Amino acid sequence: MHLSIIMDGNGRWAKAKGLNRTEGHKKGAEVVKDITTFCANNDKINYLSLYAFSTENWKRPKYEVDFLMKLLDNWLKKELDTYLENEVRFEVIGDISKFSDKLRKRINITKEKTKHFTKLTQVLALNYGSKDEITRAVKKLCNEKKEITEENINRYLDTSIHNIPDVDLLIRTSGEIRVSNFLLWQIAYAEMFFTNTLWPNFTTKELEEIIKNFEKRERRYGGI
Ligand code: IPE
Ligand code: IPE
Ligand code: MG
Repeated sequence: MHLSIIMDGNGRWAKAKGLNRTEGHKKGAEVVKDITTFCANNDKINYLSLYAFSTENWKRPKYEVDFLMKLLDNWLKKELDTYLENEVRFEVIGDISKFSDKLRKRINITKEKTKHFTKLTQVLALNYGSKDEITRAVKKLCNEKKEITEENINRYLDTSIHNIPDVDLLIRTSGEIRVSNFLLWQIAYAEMFFTNTLWPNFTTKELEEIIKNFEKRERRYGGI
């Protein structure tokens, strides 16, 4: 199954502790490692997509955006071993053309070194916005003079390009009940869970509980 997480609440976690927001992002990155390792070793989960930076997050103060870019670069460098040890394929959705050459190079190295792994595909959404993704897909269809069909639009989404299926389970942390431009097309029939836990406090134990709950839900897809 495809598990998708909107990792929210890093800033509030830090604020509550009297720390700078950037400390929340650092702690949040550690949780990404725990959750990824858990998913890699869980036979039911094949895809884990994580909302890391939205097309709207450029609105944040420059120092925070710069910090997030640096954190991502360091994280990919440091955690390459985690991908290799756990046999995790790394993929990206979103438009990373705006990122620095250095960061894009790091992203491509990580993708290249992990592309043969099949235990789990971890998908980071980077400069990702669902409206942007759909617009890019439709533009491409028009440029190639292809027919506008549901199938064709789907085929040109970032997810489909990287063989990532629709979402089965979507979780958002931090108590916000919204999707903030994440995978709008791909969550058409996803089951959703919203938890008040701030992302830096999210644990594999809570994830296990949510998955148990998810398995009890009846998915109907419009049928009876
Ligand atoms: C989510 O945490 C991480 C990113 C968007 C990069 P936030 O930074 O949005 O944390 P809050 O919502 O301000 O607490
Ligand atoms: C969504 O969180 C984006 C990520 C988790 C990367 P935000 O914190 O940016 O969303 P809003 O602004 O509260 O909707
Ligand atoms: Mg937030």
